[in-house]
Amino acid sequence: MARITVPENWRLHADAARERCRALERGDILYFPHTPLHFGEDDLQFLRAQKQSGASYHKNIAYRPAQDRITGYAGDQEERMRAVLGRFSRAAQSLMRECLSPFALEVEYASFRPLAEETRQLKTHARNDLLHVDNFPTRPTHGNRILRFFVNLHPTLPRIWRTGPPLPELLERFGAISGVIEKTRAGAGKQKWLRGFQRLGFPVQSRPEYDRFMLSFHHWLKENQAFQNDPGHARWEFPPMSSWMVFTDTASHAVLGGQFAMEQTMLVSRGSLLEPKIAPSTLVENLIQSRSA
Ligand code: SIN
Ligand code: FE
Repeated sequence: MARITVPENWRLHADAARERCRALERGDILYFPHTPLHFGEDDLQFLRAQKQSGASYHKNIAYRPAQDRITGYAGDQEERMRAVLGRFSRAAQSLMRECLSPFALEVEYASFRPLAEETRQLKTHARNDLLHVDNFPTRPTHGNRILRFFVNLHPTLPRIWRTGPPLPELLERFGAISGVIEKTRAGAGKQKWLRGFQRLGFPVQSRPEYDRFMLSFHHWLKENQAFQNDPGHARWEFPPMSSWMVFTDTASHAVLGGQFAMEQTMLVSRGSLLEPKIAPSTLVENLIQSRSA
């Protein structure tokens, strides 16, 4: 896994968009030493003053673009927070579309992460300082890919990440021995049951096989001490006001330190990928099939 620096004049190189997409699909990080987005000084001051006191169990403040609504905010300037996050989200969306023009992108949530990562106390599966690949517990992606764009808004401190091998290597090493395939299969009965409820009109979500596998694998990686302690993992610093993009369903990652990050998530449709053979959904489907033969 590599961190690839995007040149400042990337807009002049539309022809390089395919290369950027391919690098992301492989699990590399696209790194912008100076964020391409503009933040007003007023907005920065407002964001850096957020403490989220008494709500440290909230991982972050989420912004839902489709409804122009925020959740998880514990302060008393909701309107302002919504406006700032809305501006960021719209700018990040157009940046991602421009920078990665071959991808068909569907807008997901944005978030602001005002807490110091070093001081957070969370349950194992919610801890972001343990290496993992992303999957949404409540919103299955159906094999579409999770692409994230980050900005470090801290005035002086870097955001510190650790990264491990990309998903293809993780599946090769752990896919069969983790017991996650068996767990995924065992969950199939429950899904049938849920679909029955759906037919009766109840608003329950069943999870496709791919998402069941990825969520179990996410948990398994976080619980696996030997994997977490592997000294071969890389460490990255993202300085103040830098940005980066990454497929967090492929690049195993953990955040070790930092505060005040802003993030926009997009789903990349499976059909628009340039390297569908290494897409997580393809790999997981192949793995499950090969084990049932
Ligand atoms: C994560 O997606 O695991 C956290 C990344 C971050 O907040 O820097
Ligand atoms: Fe993550």
